[in-house]
Order: sequence, then C-alpha cells, then structure tokens
Amino acid sequence: MGALASPEAAHPEWLWHSGALVRWEEARVHVNAVGHASVAAVFEGIKAYLAADGERLLVFRLEDHLRRFAESARLCRLTLPYDTGRLREAALELLVANGFRQDAYLRPWAYPEGIVRELMLPAGARCEVVVDSWTFDSSLETVPGCRAAVSSWRRIGEAAMPPRAKAFSNYHNGRLALMEARQNGHDWPVMLNERGQVAESAGACVSLVRDGRLVTPALSSGVLPGITRDTVLALARGLGIPVEEREVDRSELYLADEIFFMGTAWEILPVTAIDGLPVGVPGAHPAAEEAAAAETGAGAAGPVARRLLEAYRRLVRGVEGDSPWLTEVKPG
Ligand SMILES: Cc1ncc(COP(=O)(O)O)c(C=O)c1O
Repeated sequence: MGALASPEAAHPEWLWHSGALVRWEEARVHVNAVGHASVAAVFEGIKAYLAADGERLLVFRLEDHLRRFAESARLCRLTLPYDTGRLREAALELLVANGFRQDAYLRPWAYPEGIVRELMLPAGARCEVVVDSWTFDSSLETVPGCRAAVSSWRRIGEAAMPPRAKAFSNYHNGRLALMEARQNGHDWPVMLNERGQVAESAGACVSLVRDGRLVTPALSSGVLPGITRDTVLALARGLGIPVEEREVDRSELYLADEIFFMGTAWEILPVTAIDGLPVGVPGAHPAAEEAAAAETGAGAAGPVARRLLEAYRRLVRGVEGDSPWLTEVKPG
C-alpha cells in the first residue's frame, strides 16, 4: 500500500533543537509551544538513502528541501532564525550523530517561539527550529501498489490558504481525505481542486500515463511543488518520455494506462485501482501490456512507472555516480 514515514519506530539518540544537538530524552518545550503555536508551524520531509555500495548515506535534494522550508516560512510569515547554510549543517550533523546505516528520514520544523496565546500570531514571529530523524524502509526495491479513490474533500486552494506552503495546518485537509479513503476501503485519496480538476493526494503528487505520455497537474492546480514530482519529470525527460504539466480532468484518471503517486515518503507508488476500477484499459494498449508481461519483478508498476522507478532508485542510491542532488553525510 505504501506507507508514510513511521515515527513510532524506535527513536534516535539525538535531535537538533535551536542550534544544538540535544538528547532525545532532554528535548523538552513548554506546553505552550503546542496548540496555538502549531497553527503557523511549517516543516519539511527529506530522505537520506544508503548508497548502493552500502557505505555512504546520501541526502537527496537537501538544498531544494531547505529552500522550500524557507519559502513555507515566508508564505506563513514566520522568521526563521537560521539561514539555509546553517540548517544544512544541522541536518548533516544530526545524521552523523545518530549514526544511521540505513535509509533515514529527516524532519525539520519551525514553530513560533515563546508564549503563544493568540491564534492570530503577528507576521514576522520568530521561530524555534527542531530537526528530527528516524529510520525509514524504502519501497523502491519492493514496489507495492495501492488503491486510490477520488475524495469528496477538495484540496485547499489559493483562495483559502497557500497550497505551496508545507504548513502543518494544511495537513488537516489531507487527513480528512485520507480518513475518508480508508473508511471506504481504499488506501489513499486523490483530491480535486476547487475547480474540480485533479490536484494531488494527501502527501504526494500524482501523475498518469496515457499513450506513452506522462501527464501531471500543473503547479497552479493547487499542488505542493513536490521535489519528487520535479525529479520524476526530469527523469522522464531524460528517458525521452513526453511530459505534460497541465490541468487534468477527473475522467482522465479512469482512462489512464498507469497512475502513480510521487513524494519523498511514498517515492513512486503505483496506483492499481482508482474508485474501484482497475488502472489501465484492458486491450487498449497491447504493446504496453506485452512489454509489462515480458518483464519480471514488475511489482504493481506499469511499464513507464517501472522505468522511472529504476531511474529514481539508481539516482538516489548513487549508482549513477555523483549528482548535484546528492549530499554525502560525512563525519566531522
Ligand atoms: C501535501 C503534499 N503534497 C505533495 C508532497 C510531495 O512532495 P515531495 O516530493 O517534495 O516530498 C508532499 C510531501 O512532502 C506533501 O506533503
């Protein structure tokens, strides 16, 4: 089904809090730091992959995630006390301290500092920053599939709150859609935007494939500017797969040859059924079906998703060699 990162896993030894490494047990804040302060809080989700050589930990697109973190803070009118360079050091320092030798997930977040009793926090509020991290089982090697359903909840839009911000408050939207999907026996929702066109899921962007073309909702469709989405589009272009970023109709989901979600936590997650309809119109694309059947270890992915998964796996595990998108975690 694909899984969100699992914070209930055994906790790491160290966190980074307001400029220093802090032992997990000693990382404390006043009760006032939860509640109202959370309304304006922003965060990021970043992955570090164990390289294919089993020796090195490689953080994927760290600079881009930290840039989006700063942009989320700006959209929520928060003042981060650290620049991107300092947060980069913090992330790497934390990964070294925790000594992970397997795939890991990094979670920086910023919340307004001090006593916050007002929901209407003034613009420019200074923040505290925490970076948490935990181990993470990648599904790049196993490739599960999931069943998705169009949600009755619409994705938040520019008229209500900025969908481009990775703000905790935005996640109530996805949470409602996810609970509805689970209640109805599906794994993940697909949310339409306020105009009724496809937006994204509850923590991942979405793409479909039709007649060999990869189609994904434009950033102006109310999606978070996903870093995995951006990576997948770059990989597709590199593989000669035509890419369309545009408004996507709901009915296109039902006619797609393939659908998959894209996100840091979900990686590339194939959708095997949408609203109970198996993905891929039987008989419509015999060449693609034959190609799919001929290959082994396909998991739930269609032929295009499979090529992208392989390219993504090779990229993040450093098989393709050095990439400006990879930052090696080096002690000291
Ligand atoms: C709401 C939402 N959309 C999309 C994504 C996918 O973005 P990314 O690929 O940068 O993780 C995420 C995950 O961060 C998300 O929370």
